[in-house]
Amino acid sequence: MLSGPPRLVPFVVIFFVLALGWWYLHIAPASGSSLPTWNSGTSKPHTAPASLRGDPLDFGLPLRFTDGQAKPPGSNYTYKIVIPKTEKEDIGWMAEEIPEAPLVIYEVDKSDAENKIPKNKGREAMVYLSYIIDHYDDLADTTIFMHAHRHAWHNNQLMGLDAVQLLKRLNHERVARMGYMNVRCHHDPGCPDWIHMDRPGGDFDFYHKPEEIYWRKEIWEEIHPGAPIPPSISGICCAQFAVSRQRIREVPIERFIHYRKWLLTTGMDDQFSGRIFEYIWHYIFTGHEVHCPAMNTCYCDGYGICFGGRQAFEDYFTKQDERNKQFQIMDEYNKREDQAREDGKESPLNQTELDHRAKLRDIIGGYDVELEKLRNEAKKRGEDPKARKEETESYDSSHIWDYAPHGD
Ligand SMILES: *[C@@H]1O[C@H](CO)[C@@H](O)[C@H](O)[C@H]1NC(C)=O
Ligand SMILES: *[C@@H]1O[C@H](CO)[C@@H](O)[C@H](O)[C@H]1NC(C)=O
Repeated sequence: MLSGPPRLVPFVVIFFVLALGWWYLHIAPASGSSLPTWNSGTSKPHTAPASLRGDPLDFGLPLRFTDGQAKPPGSNYTYKIVIPKTEKEDIGWMAEEIPEAPLVIYEVDKSDAENKIPKNKGREAMVYLSYIIDHYDDLADTTIFMHAHRHAWHNNQLMGLDAVQLLKRLNHERVARMGYMNVRCHHDPGCPDWIHMDRPGGDFDFYHKPEEIYWRKEIWEEIHPGAPIPPSISGICCAQFAVSRQRIREVPIERFIHYRKWLLTTGMDDQFSGRIFEYIWHYIFTGHEVHCPAMNTCYCDGYGICFGGRQAFEDYFTKQDERNKQFQIMDEYNKREDQAREDGKESPLNQTELDHRAKLRDIIGGYDVELEKLRNEAKKRGEDPKARKEETESYDSSHIWDYAPHGD
C-alpha cells in the first residue's frame, strides 16, 4: 500500500483530469493543426475553393485548377518575396539591389525571429508552407519563394546566375496566367524525365539524383494519400518559384497543413525531406506530374529575353558550349602555368603551347562578342510585345477535365 497524503490524491487527480478536459475542449487547437502549442494564425474558417470536389484531404480527387488572367497591360502587381535565412547567411544584397522589394524573411535558427516556424526542420519547405498557411487570407498577387543567396549555379545563366536580375525582370503576367512558375528556366536537373518511385535499387544515379532513393511509393502515399502513383515526377529543380494568389487559394489550406505535418513528423533526414518537396511544388500547384515548360518561352515570356524561337535559343547554347570547350583547353594551360609559379618554377609551356593559348584566347574573345550580341538582341526583341507573344505558350485547358474521373 502506498502511504503518503491520503484522500488528497484522488481530489488532485480528479481536478487535474477536469482541467485537462477543459483545456482540451477550449484551448487545444483543432485537429489538423500541426502542433498543440503552435498557433498557425488561421483560426478563421475557410470556405472550400471552387477547385475542390470533395474531401480536401482526399488526394485521389485532382483539384480543378483554372487558368489565371493577367491584368490589363501596364497594371502593377503586388508581390512578396519569401526567404528562409540562417544566421550565417547574408541577404544584404537584397536591401542594396532591390530596396523596394517587399521581403518576408524567416530567420530559421533565431529564437526571437519575427516570422516564426513551428520547427526548423525540412529546410525551405517548412518556411514556404508556414508562410502560405499563415497568410492564406492576405496574399499578394504574386508570392516569390527564394533562397537567401544571390549567385547560384541554379539561377538563370542568361541573367548571370544572379537572383537580382531574375527578380527585376520577372514578368508577373506570366505568373498570373500560369499560376505557378519555377523561376529557373533550364530543364536540367529535374526535367524532363526524373524521379521514378519504382526504379529498382541497382539503377539509381546517386550523382545526378541523390534524392530519388528517398522518393519511394510509401512516401508518395504518406504525402498524397489516395492519389495514384505517377509514372514519374519531373519538374525543374531547386525550389525557387513564383505563385499567384489565385493558384495558392485553389489548393485547400488543409493540404498545406497536411504537408507541413508530414514535414514535422517524418523521420527522414532533414536534407532529404526538404528535397522531397523540391520535386513536388509543381505538382502541388499545377496538378501535373511532369511540368517542364519550354526553356525559350520561359526566358521570353518570363523575363523578356527572346531569341525568336526554340531553334534560335538552342543555337545560342550550342555556340556557348563550343566556346566553353575552347575555354577548358586554354584553362589547362593556365593551370599548368599557375602550378609552376606556385612551385617557384619557370613556365612549363613551350612556344607551340604558348602560341596555341594565344590563339585560343582570340577564338574565345570572338565567341564572347558574338554571344553578347545575341543576348542583347534577345533582350531588345523581348521589349516588343508582339515578339514576346509569338514566343509564349498558348493554353487551352478548357477540355482537359473531360478525361478526369468524375467523383460526383
Ligand atoms: C504602377 O506603379 C508605378 C510606380 O509606382 C506608378 O508610377 C504607376 O502609376 C502605377 N501604374 C498603375 C496603373 O497603377
Ligand atoms: C611542346 O609541348 C607539347 C606537350 O608537352 C609537346 O607535345 C610538343 O612536342 C612540344 N613542342 C615543342 C616545339 O617542343
